[in-house]
Order: sequence, then C-alpha cells, then structure tokens
Amino acid sequence: MSNDKSKLRKNPKYDSNHNDVSLERIGQHIKYPLLKDISHNEEFIILKKENFIQVLNDAYYKNNLKLLKNNIQKLRDIITYEKNDFKDFNYNNGETISLRKDILISELNQILNSRTLNRAKYYLKRLENSVIKIKNGKINDLNLLRWKEYNDIITDSLWIFSNRDTSGAHLGWYWGNFIPQIPHQIILRYTKKGDWILDTFVGSGTTLIECRRLGRNGIGIELNSEVARKAEELVSKEQNKYNIITEVVVADSRTVNIKKVLEKYEIDKVQLIIMHPPYHDIIRFSNNKKDLSNAKNTEEFLKMFGEVLDNVTEYLENGRYLALVIGDKYSKGEWIPLGFYCMNEVLKRDYSLKSIVVKNFEDTRGKRDQKELWRYRALVGGFYIFKHEYIMLFNKINDKK
Ligand SMILES: C[S@@+](CC[C@H](N)C(=O)[O-])C[C@H]1O[C@@H](n2cnc3c(N)ncnc32)[C@H](O)[C@@H]1O
Repeated sequence: MSNDKSKLRKNPKYDSNHNDVSLERIGQHIKYPLLKDISHNEEFIILKKENFIQVLNDAYYKNNLKLLKNNIQKLRDIITYEKNDFKDFNYNNGETISLRKDILISELNQILNSRTLNRAKYYLKRLENSVIKIKNGKINDLNLLRWKEYNDIITDSLWIFSNRDTSGAHLGWYWGNFIPQIPHQIILRYTKKGDWILDTFVGSGTTLIECRRLGRNGIGIELNSEVARKAEELVSKEQNKYNIITEVVVADSRTVNIKKVLEKYEIDKVQLIIMHPPYHDIIRFSNNKKDLSNAKNTEEFLKMFGEVLDNVTEYLENGRYLALVIGDKYSKGEWIPLGFYCMNEVLKRDYSLKSIVVKNFEDTRGKRDQKELWRYRALVGGFYIFKHEYIMLFNKINDKK
C-alpha cells in the first residue's frame, strides 16, 4: 500500500458515503516520547473514539470471516501508512483516544491471523473493550486494559539507568540527590493524580519536581534551611500545569508535627511516603546533631531513622506505599548492610514488604576520579566496590500483629 494519502482519498473504497464509517476519518498520527526516563520515542495515534469504535463494530457484525478481515485489513493499512496530513481533520468535536501505534497494529494483526470467526470476534471485542472501558488500579491511574502500552513503567526488580534525567528543573546540583527517574517510577505506580506525597528527606526537591510534572501534591521535609530554600526556588521553576501544591517544610522529620502540616491543606493522610535518608555518614549533610548523617554509629542512625518512621506512619493511608531509597556503606573493613537494617526497622512497624529493587549506582564524583585506586583497594581488601543501592517498597497494613 502506498504512503500517499491523496491516493487513499480518491479511492472509492474509502469514500465517506460508504456504509461503513469512513476509515480515513478516524485518526491522526502524532509522535511524542512516551515518558522521559527510558529512551524510546514511541509513536501514538490519536483517533476519534466514536468513529474508531464504529469501525470495529462494523467488522464485528460481519457474519463471515473474510468480510470481517477485509474491514480490519483496511483499518490496519490506514493506521500503518497514513502520514501527517491526517491532522487536516477536525478534532474539535467529539472524544479522541490515544493509542500506541505498534501495539494497535499488533492487535489488528492478531485479528487478521485468526482462523475462525469466533476467535476474530473475541479479539475484536477485547480491542473494543480496551478502548471503551477503563480498568484503573486502586492506587494508580494506569488503565490495566491497555497495560501493554506502559512499557516505560518498570516491573523488574533490577533498575539500570545509564543517564539521569536532567530536563527542566532537574539540575542535579545536590550531592547525594537521587535520580528523578526513581520518584517518577514510584509516583506513577503508587499514586493517582491529585494524591498527596510526603518526602521526609526532600533535599534538593527532586520528588517535588516530579510531583509537579505528574500532577500530584507534594510535601517535603528538609532539615537544612539553606538546601530547603534552594529546593523551593527550583521546584517553583517547574511548570505547574496540573495546579497542584508543593511545599518544602524546614524541620526535623523525627519531630515535625505532620498533623499540623496536613491540616493546612485540610487533609489527614497522604497516599505515598518517599524516604531517601542519608546513607548514615557517607555524606555529611550538615553539622546539625539532628541530621541522620551525624549519628554517632549505626545503632544511633537506625534509632533516628525509626523515629522518623514513628512520626510519619500514622499519616499514611492504609493500603498505600512507603518507598525507601537507601544504599549500604563500608566501614573499618566491614560491609554495613544499612539497606537491610533499615528494612528491618520498617518491618517492625505496620508495613509488609512488597519489593526490593536493586538499582545501579553512579560513581560519586570523588570515586570517579579515583577509579583505579578503588579497584586496587578492592583487590587488596577483599571487597566489592558499591555499584548498587536499594529501592524498597512497603505496603502500609492495619495493625500488624
Ligand atoms: C540523601 S539526601 C536526600 C536527597 C533528595 N532525595 C534529593 O533528590 O535531593 C538526605 C537529606 O536528608 C536531610 N536530613 C538529614 N537529617 C534530617 C532530618 N532529621 N530531618 C529532615 N531532613 C534530614 C539532609 O539534609 C539531606 O538533604
């Protein structure tokens, strides 16, 4: 089939007076990147919902497999070969739907490959349902009937990112920040638009920038007022197209009055807590004794971490998630599994463990300059150089016994 749309227009088979809804009037192609954290540039097609469903219906009510396939074949060809001039059509009227082109084509191919009329109709109905109906998860906005389209959402427990997202307000200036892809993934999976997110160690505001992008409200607590001020400044530079609230509260997460913070917005619970504490003293964030990075030893660090948990847990809605981002440390010839120690602290409270994700770890600037030295040290000392950190997901449960 030709790529040339004008040929299609002249073809009587595609005339709008034809009994079936004119196939050429159903859609428009656009190209845009799906979501920024994974490098793909998926092509979406925007269709007039009513017309598209009508085309599927016309095919569905054919009582002969060949006729049904003829209709689907036409539809597939139009979707496959139409180019930009599709946008000539007027989209101001009626509802549109946006579908991943490659997935739609594979669904149409499945219909075309059916050996029986019943099978073809089964696939057709399934495709129609996935367009008409929405099956949302309880805790996110994903339409599970179109789950194949979400290949930007990671479901494996090994996350490897080669680059950090540095777009917009994500400047990555703060030593010890996390890459924006972490809150991005967690927010999409565990919250809905308009939900409230609490980040107890908000640092440079990475979580809040993602909140603005994804239409979630965000409250960040940060002990260091200077860092908090900078974070606020940056966050406010990110476009707020969903008109949500973001706030940085300068306070100690162990003692801040969360109830009061939430009351200001007339809410009493949040739907997600993100915690990215210092990895004990790997980076000293300040001289403040209240700073977890100044804990005298691992025990004190865990005690302080536990105090934060105790201060915030009751404000997380039951059934919702706490995400902990943490790495281990090395001290006096010993690997200190801070991640698992912190996990145990969480599990002493009202949470169940849902996942442990291992994420690759970029070298800190210092380590990057001393790569050879670290390799030598590792060989001499019998240890491995840290290349990973953890993202642990916990589900808040009611009154854990
Ligand atoms: C690992 S950083 C978080 C970085 C953040 N995720 C980002 O992307 O910028 C930990 C932060 O916790 C802050 N912090 C340490 N102790 C705290 C406490 N008791 N209460 C609130 N914040 C604290 C530190 O100042 C530091 O900014």
